[in-house]
Amino acid sequence: MRLMKQIWEKAKTDKKTIVLAEGEEERNLKAGEKITKNGLANVIMVGNIDVIKEKVSKLNVDLTGVTLVDPQTSDKLEKYAHEFYELRKKKGITPDKANKIVRDPLYFATMMVKLGDADGLVSGSIHTTGDLLRPGLQIVKTAPGTSVVSSIFMMEVPNCDLGDNGFLLFSDCAVNPVPNTEQLAAIAISTAETAKSLCGMDPKVAMLSFSTKGSAQHENVDKVREATKLAKQMQPDLKIDGELQLDASLIQEVANLKAPGSPVAGKANVLIFPELQAGNIGYKLVQRFAKAEAIGPICQGFAKPINDLSRGCSSDDIVNVVAVTAVQAQAAK
Ligand code: ACO
Repeated sequence: MRLMKQIWEKAKTDKKTIVLAEGEEERNLKAGEKITKNGLANVIMVGNIDVIKEKVSKLNVDLTGVTLVDPQTSDKLEKYAHEFYELRKKKGITPDKANKIVRDPLYFATMMVKLGDADGLVSGSIHTTGDLLRPGLQIVKTAPGTSVVSSIFMMEVPNCDLGDNGFLLFSDCAVNPVPNTEQLAAIAISTAETAKSLCGMDPKVAMLSFSTKGSAQHENVDKVREATKLAKQMQPDLKIDGELQLDASLIQEVANLKAPGSPVAGKANVLIFPELQAGNIGYKLVQRFAKAEAIGPICQGFAKPINDLSRGCSSDDIVNVVAVTAVQAQAAK
């Protein structure tokens, strides 16, 4: 992806510390070497140090410059357990439970980010999206001014003139199963912000539906229409319109017929899906049928960056997600 080169260069300008919570896993070990050699981030790998060292020697990986941390023996364990207890005692967590929970590498790595021992977290090569997000949602929580953590996919479609010459952001395709009106508005605003800060885009946000400007009546359409109105109230300068069908969002001739005069229709480069099933199916359709490159899910809305990996990811995918996380960490400071 063209943008990734710029993201790598930006990551190098102000090196951040990123923790990989699945430090015993082979693709993560290879990624740790590549990230360090390319100067993209300072890397911390979480796991059993003997297991990591054995795999490093078997794989012939060079982890010079990478910090290894074992949650079971770390001198930070007591502090993390205490802080986790303080954060979650209202939810029924006892000191004893907190001590057990923070030994889990995902919780331990999330506490590192919360307490500033790392600037961002990348995980998910052997865990589900939910396994990774839950500690993040419980511990790091949302950034000020945002009520919702959501996600984007950067989509680059070859030989395509839709969006920005085939480059578009899709959201939310990975986190919120059924966003309500307020959440949908928040997802649109977060995605526009990510489009500017991470991708250098001038966002034109289409709020997708099966209806364009009242062509169909349904409570699901009302939700999209109301979320659009709310997002406009929250950010009057935002170029956003809805509800719009996909063709009206992307193709000027259709927009001229269905949504004349719209500042977005026909030229949208940010697509907001009304709920997760549509979003998840939608990005995979474009990825498979149009052979688009899909980078994500990249999370947005966390107080500090946390990003997920696909379980089918390669070590190069991990390197790219770490570069993205490092750039998000630069913006989060
Ligand atoms: N933004 C902010 N806070 C949130 C969000 C959100 N989107 N979702 C939940 N929370 C908060 C809750 O309010 C709660 O806070 P509290 O405990 O301090 O009161 C906390 O996070 C944990 O909430 P839970 O109810 O325990 O978590 P939940 O069971 O709702 O799970 C999750 C949240 C993991 C994001 C869930 O919605 C989920 O599994 N989403 C789908 C993930 C998925 O499978 N995606 C598809 C695959 S990805 C792919 O194909 C690329």
